[in-house]
Order: sequence, then structure tokens, then C-alpha cells
Amino acid sequence: MIYRTFQYLCRTSPVLNRTIQKAVYQYLAKLGLEVELPFMNFGYMDSIHGDDTLPLDPEDEPHRSCIQLYHNIVCPVDIEDKRVLEVGCGHGGGASYLTRYMKPRSFVGIDFSPRAIDFCNQWHEIEGLQFMHGDAHQLPFEDESFDAVVNVESSHRYNRMDIFLSEVHRVLRPNGHLLFTDVRIHSEVEELRDFLNNSNLKLIEEERITQKICNALDFDHERKVTLVREHTPRLLHNSLLDLWAAKGSKPYKWFKTGKWEYLRYVLCKEES
Ligand SMILES: C[S@@+](CC[C@H](N)C(=O)[O-])C[C@H]1O[C@@H](n2cnc3c(N)ncnc32)[C@H](O)[C@@H]1O
Repeated sequence: MIYRTFQYLCRTSPVLNRTIQKAVYQYLAKLGLEVELPFMNFGYMDSIHGDDTLPLDPEDEPHRSCIQLYHNIVCPVDIEDKRVLEVGCGHGGGASYLTRYMKPRSFVGIDFSPRAIDFCNQWHEIEGLQFMHGDAHQLPFEDESFDAVVNVESSHRYNRMDIFLSEVHRVLRPNGHLLFTDVRIHSEVEELRDFLNNSNLKLIEEERITQKICNALDFDHERKVTLVREHTPRLLHNSLLDLWAAKGSKPYKWFKTGKWEYLRYVLCKEES
């Protein structure tokens, strides 16, 4: 009920959307520090059995499904020795994974939740990786500063997708890439594709990955339920299980029935 009210309010007012979003992510950053939560995405699994084969260090293994989402979004482009920006980095787990395993020249993560950025600065100390407070609608960088922009499960509540895409186009150098993935209601997928097609970026790959997300929801279910039940006030249990699409929640059902879709895109800024 709280979750559906939250969804309704976010849809009806951009100002409320921004305020509510910020409050939710500020709370999750506080929770993240208590329970060691470096990721906030739904995850990606080829199978529901957790036997996916991406090689990971033992300390990264607990976060396999969330890491695999980042890996599959970014792997179409080689980011080694490149300047990379992540918009909506959350608690920085993806930025940390990409910096350690894919060796970009530099990596900057930005998020509009100041507490999320505090979390990142306390949690991840890695050469070449830095975090800053910033908004997707007004990227605090000079034109043509990056070779790639990464955006994972953050755009669905941006007030102006067109402004975000024009900011990405501005900060990318020619031949740079946007590596982008997110959830959309089935009826909004066409609208998203229109935004991408009108963005001045060239759409070069599109893939529906909803089934891989559903696999991850099944695989990670117990971990999420334990985390919510053991570390959050009872009043928030149902809302958080909805937010994370745990089994039995409406969002879980919407993924399973195709009402919600999860998409992955690669776009490129062509030379003018
Ligand atoms: C579901 S979390 C995903 C975080 C991270 N990408 C991950 O996969 O773990 C969405 C993130 O987007 C951030 N966000 C939402 N709106 C934003 C905006 N307008 N500008 C920058 N960050 C934003 C939120 O603060 C949150 O950290």
C-alpha cells in the first residue's frame, strides 16, 4: 500500500518525485552502512541456480548477481584505459567492480543522494575511482570529458529523460558510448525508444533481459528477506520487499507476467 502510494505520487508530481526518491535513497544509504549493502539493483543471472561462470574474487561472490548486471551491460565495449562516468552509482559497488576488473584510466561515480556518496567514500578506496554528488539532469563536467557513461537501474524516475540524454551526449567525446539498462512498464518501452532515437546518440544494441532479472530475483530472494526482516523496522518490511521485487510482491508478479520489462542498450556518439 505504502509502495503503491509512493509510485502514484512519483508519477503525478516531478517535485514530489524528486523529494520522495531522495528520501528513499538517503534511507537506503543509512541501511547500507549497517548491513554492508554496496549494490541496489535487481541483479542478473543466466540461471536461477547461481551456477553462472563469471570469474570473481571470493569477497565479491556474495554480490554475484548484482555484479553480473554491471558486467553484462558494460562488456560490449572495452573500457580499459578509458575515462568512465557512472550516473546514479548508488553505493558504488558497480563502480568498484568495473574499476578493479576492467581497469579504466579513471572512473567517476555520481549520485544525487549525498548519503549514498558518503557511503561510497567510506566504503571504496580504489586508485583511479572517485565519487561526487551530482544530478543526472545537470552533469557537473565539461563537454567531451568521458569515453563511456554507465547508467544502471537509475533512469526510471528521472523527471526528464531527454535532458539526461542530452547531458550524456554533451559529456561524451565523439565515438564514446552510453551503456544503459533499466526497468520500464511494458507500455512505456516505445516511449523510451523514442527518447533514445531522438537523442543524437546512435542506438547500436537493444536487448530485453527481463528473464535474466527474474532468475536473479528468484536466486536472491532469501538474502533480501533476511536483510529486510533482521535490519529494518517492521512497518517498512512490505514496502522494502516491494521495492526489491521480492517473491510475493506486486513488482515480482509484474516482472513474471511481462507487465514490467528490463532492457539493456548500447548507444554511441557519432563524430559530427
Ligand atoms: C536502484 S538505485 C541503483 C544504484 C546502482 N546503480 C546499483 O545498481 O546498485 C538508483 C540510484 O539512482 C540514483 N538517482 C536517482 N535519480 C537520480 C538523479 N536525478 N541523479 C543522479 N542519481 C539519481 C539514486 O539516488 C540511487 O542511488
